[in-house]
Amino acid sequence: MEKLFVGTLLLSVLAGVMTQADMTGKVFIFPQESATAHVSLMPLVRKPLHNFTLCLKAFTDHICPYSLFSYSTPSRDNGLLLFVNKMGEYILTIGNLDVTFKAPVTPYIPVHVCVSWESASGIAEFWVNGKPCGRKGLRKGYSVGAQAKIILGQEQDSFGGRFEAKQSFVGEIWEVLLWDHVLPLTEMCEWCYSGNILNWQALSNEESSYVVTKPKLWV
Ligand SMILES: *[C@@H]1O[C@H](CO)[C@@H](O)[C@H](O)[C@H]1NC(C)=O
Repeated sequence: MEKLFVGTLLLSVLAGVMTQADMTGKVFIFPQESATAHVSLMPLVRKPLHNFTLCLKAFTDHICPYSLFSYSTPSRDNGLLLFVNKMGEYILTIGNLDVTFKAPVTPYIPVHVCVSWESASGIAEFWVNGKPCGRKGLRKGYSVGAQAKIILGQEQDSFGGRFEAKQSFVGEIWEVLLWDHVLPLTEMCEWCYSGNILNWQALSNEESSYVVTKPKLWV
């Protein structure tokens, strides 16, 4: 056990860059369009997701399509993807199948996006800025694979790679949270920082290429 621990420690030291940080009050800034800049996130627990709730906040003034959250698995590059196709049009992908949700367009202010999904019914519930945008069904009975590469800033077209500058995110992202269960989104609150899969207060992350961490501008 101790050997395993030392081994794990050594591995993380050798890899060198994955750090755990309390990101409270901070954001990741993706300052330029690129096919390289991204942040890899390490889940606190690796388990297949039969249910989940994903929340994040983002600001961008880019209109082109971009990825907000890209979770790929070895068998599905889009295991769980949150993608903005155009202003106000969000695509949720689970196991490479898509549903679209439309939200009122509020340009030049941050968006707070929350989505939950339960395997038993396949129902995904989508909220933007504290308002429901409806429910749709996909992938009933499915579970999202546990072996994940979770990336902010880029969209993965293969497991951990094949980024395209045209789908990169330019702007800032913060308070990215993932739970392994469905939360009542009516009760989504400002202080809900501690997802049990991704926790903004204890975020294992690795920044690659041009990504900058700064205090947040918006509350
Ligand atoms: C997923 O949520 C359903 C309720 O919608 C629950 O019955 C089930 O046990 C949950 N599955 C897991 C693996 O947590």
